[in-house]
Amino acid sequence: MDLHVNGKNHPLQGDQVAPEMPLLWALRDVLQLTGTKFGCGIGACGACTVHLDGQAVRSCVTPLSAVQGREVRTIEGLASPAGLHALQAAWIAQQVPQCGYCQSGMLMAAADLLARHPQPSDAQIDEAISNLCRCGTYPRVRAAIHAAAHAQPTAAAPTAEMMR
Ligand code: FES
Ligand code: FES
Repeated sequence: MDLHVNGKNHPLQGDQVAPEMPLLWALRDVLQLTGTKFGCGIGACGACTVHLDGQAVRSCVTPLSAVQGREVRTIEGLASPAGLHALQAAWIAQQVPQCGYCQSGMLMAAADLLARHPQPSDAQIDEAISNLCRCGTYPRVRAAIHAAAHAQPTAAAPTAEMMR
């Protein structure tokens, strides 16, 4: 079985994994990608959120059989060689985390949201970020998402100069 994670292929041995193993287990225990956290294990808290083909999923309830041939992105792959993701920069600027445990899942959910809605409304943020935070960082999460949305380059409307 192969796992494609953060642009790399990882061949996994049959004695390490099974098709029904949750993706979260393979990420943390086999690949040692421990930025993705275990919270509830039942898909309720969002601490384990990663991207599967660009969409946020809860890796504790996603079996390895469902990720074959698909691209997984974890918090370790959110930044690019060019630098931090706009959300990571905003998270630092806004000092979002408190204990930090939920934050990698928050960031991955927020990155999915911004990819779909580059300028999300408060309602869209509240709908997309159903992750739980025991420290109550929700207002700063929302503020940082808005800050990242404003910092992202947006497609400029063509000017008369550009049309010539
Ligand atoms: S650990 Fe996966 S949703 Fe809580
Ligand atoms: S920052 Fe502590 S649980 Fe969210």
